[in-house]
Amino acid sequence: MHADIDHIVLTEEQITARVAELGAEISRDYNQEPVLLIAVLRGAALFVADLARAIESPVEIDFMAVSSYGSSTQSSGVVRIIKDLEELIEGRHVLVVEDILDTGLTLKYLLKNLASRKPASLEVVSLLNKKGKQRVPISCKYVGFDIPDEFVVGYGLDYAERYRNLPYIGVLRPEVYSG
Ligand code: IMP
Repeated sequence: MHADIDHIVLTEEQITARVAELGAEISRDYNQEPVLLIAVLRGAALFVADLARAIESPVEIDFMAVSSYGSSTQSSGVVRIIKDLEELIEGRHVLVVEDILDTGLTLKYLLKNLASRKPASLEVVSLLNKKGKQRVPISCKYVGFDIPDEFVVGYGLDYAERYRNLPYIGVLRPEVYSG
């Protein structure tokens, strides 16, 4: 385990198993309909890479980058699109791929924006969900894991751009924040 990690919340094995289940569920639901995965950079980059390989339906992948004003560990809900899609989504089945659903403010803004482009369907898959933390109602069709309200890193999630490459998800030791 990395020296900065206090404890592991989800092991690599747990993540792998759950991503396979999500992929199977999504493949069943979309059947042979093409699905456009829209991953929200940068946190969802690792998740979408694994999830796409677990889906049997025809898949395309596009990326969006948003910046949320606020401190590094707290979302403000004011969102700016930094990188928009390459693809037009009108009439297509869109599945937004998120790393973590916290307050839901970022996703709410994003979904409103995407819905205005008239996709055939618009759903969300989030690897993690901080249960009870949502400040706005979000309908997230697929959730990997419900986790307690702790700041987590690893498997794409960062603190100050670090730790994204950890293969597991864990909580940092308190001194890492203060140090
Ligand atoms: P929300 O707008 O509060 O739902 O936050 C959304 C974004 O904040 C996520 O996509 C993450 O990039 C980031 N975030 C929220 N909680 C965590 C966490 O525990 N670790 C790392 N990033 C987080």
